Order: sequence, then structure tokens, then C-alpha cells
Amino acid sequence: MSSKKSGKKSDKTMATGDRAILPEGAKTIPIYIMGQKYDVPETLTILKAMEYAGFQFIRGCGCRGGICGACSTVYRIPGDYKLQVGLACQTVVEPDMYLAQIPFYPANRASYQLDELEGKPEEIFKLYPEVFRCVACNACTKACPMDVKVLDYVSAIKQGNIAKAAQLSFDCIQCGLCASRCMGELPQYHFAQLARRIYGSKIAPRSEHLEKRVKEIESGKYDEMLKKLTQMSQSELEKLYVEREREPDTSVPGEWMPKETKYL
Ligand code: FES
Repeated sequence: MSSKKSGKKSDKTMATGDRAILPEGAKTIPIYIMGQKYDVPETLTILKAMEYAGFQFIRGCGCRGGICGACSTVYRIPGDYKLQVGLACQTVVEPDMYLAQIPFYPANRASYQLDELEGKPEEIFKLYPEVFRCVACNACTKACPMDVKVLDYVSAIKQGNIAKAAQLSFDCIQCGLCASRCMGELPQYHFAQLARRIYGSKIAPRSEHLEKRVKEIESGKYDEMLKKLTQMSQSELEKLYVEREREPDTSVPGEWMPKETKYL
């Protein structure tokens, strides 16, 4: 369980835990959290609706922006045979939804030292032999809240194409919902993470501009500027931020340059 119910238990149908004041005429709908009915504003995400209902998140909530993968949720709409999955911070409540959170999915993760790997597909096969248990049912792809083509990257790994697997899985947020629906019991998101690690450290070309920038930082090029920034007050920092030179929305990508190039 990733959240705790705050406040006293109440037999009121209307939730009281949130301090939000509903706008006049706001419509509420019933939802069921762990089997208990709550009326919540229809416009809220599951995460906000649970808070509105009095739950306080101490786990199972991170970025609130669909990036960290901490808020995986399973729900069912009455009358619909399908078990639905989604991110609580992104999915808007629906009338009568029954929901439960699974912010951690207990899948096996292999232990390895990236430095000791050469970056060969056989190493992934050895660390994750279960990749060959995939029956290509595609339940993983259907479950993914990020629209990652999970089956496609699993297939790429099986074919030994680490670069393709890394690219296809780039948007994975490690929520584990793919694994929760897999009939082959695969931890797909862990395969993908290893593929991306191998790709980034052994296969992708070195970034020359990054190496150049690291050398500049090490040479002390930015020390004075950083010292000045850390000595500024909050209002001075805010002013600097607001007045900073910004790339116009209409500029052609890669062509815009600021007038001040001292720190580039
Ligand atoms: S809280 Fe981070 S993805 Fe939902």
C-alpha cells in the first residue's frame, strides 16, 4: 500500500480529506478506492482524486508529471471486461471506476557491473535468459502508459539489436506495468534499461561537445560566474531569470545564438 488515509474514518459518501474548495456547480462522480466509495470532482486525475478523498501519498508518487513511473494504477470500469492500467498522475477519473495502486512491481532485476560488460547481445541473454520466454502476445505494449512499443524492443533484444532496443525503449519510465500484464513473466523494463545502458556506454558515438564542456568546467571557466550566482539574493536571481535572453519560439532549430556568448 503506497498511501495512507489521513483523518478520522467517516461514513459520509462525500470525501472530506482534501482542503480544496470546489467551484460552484462542480460535478462530482463516484469512484471506488480499495473498495470504498468516494465522490470526487470529475476533472481530477486519480492521484488528485485520491488526495481529495483523504489519502496522503508517502510512496507511489514522485514527479506528478508522468515521468518518474511511481504511480502505476490498475482499475476496472464496471461492465468492461478489460483490466485497465495507467499512471495515477495522468489518468482522469471516470464514474464508478474501481482502482488500486501498484507503485512497485516485484520483477527480478539482474545484477551486473556495466564496466565489466563488453556490450554484446549474448551478455543480455545470459543476464536475462527469460527474454526468450516472450510469446509475442503484445499485452506489454497495450499496457504501456507511455506508448512504448514494448514487444518491438523485446523482439529487437532477441535479435541482438541493442541499438534498436535502446531507441525503441527511450520513453520507458520503469513503471513496471508491462511486467504486470506479461503472461511470460518477463521484466521487460529491466531488459530495456540494460540495453540503454549498454548502448549509451559502449555503442553510441562519444559526444565531442560534452567532452569539450567538461574540460571547460574543469579548467575553471565557470567558477567566477557560479560564485557570483551563489552570492545573489532570491530577488536578484528571479530578476536575472525573468530577464534572461530566450530563444524565440519561431527560430529555426540549431540556428539561434544568444547575443552573450561568453559562457557558451
Ligand atoms: S507521479 Fe511520476 S509518473 Fe506519476
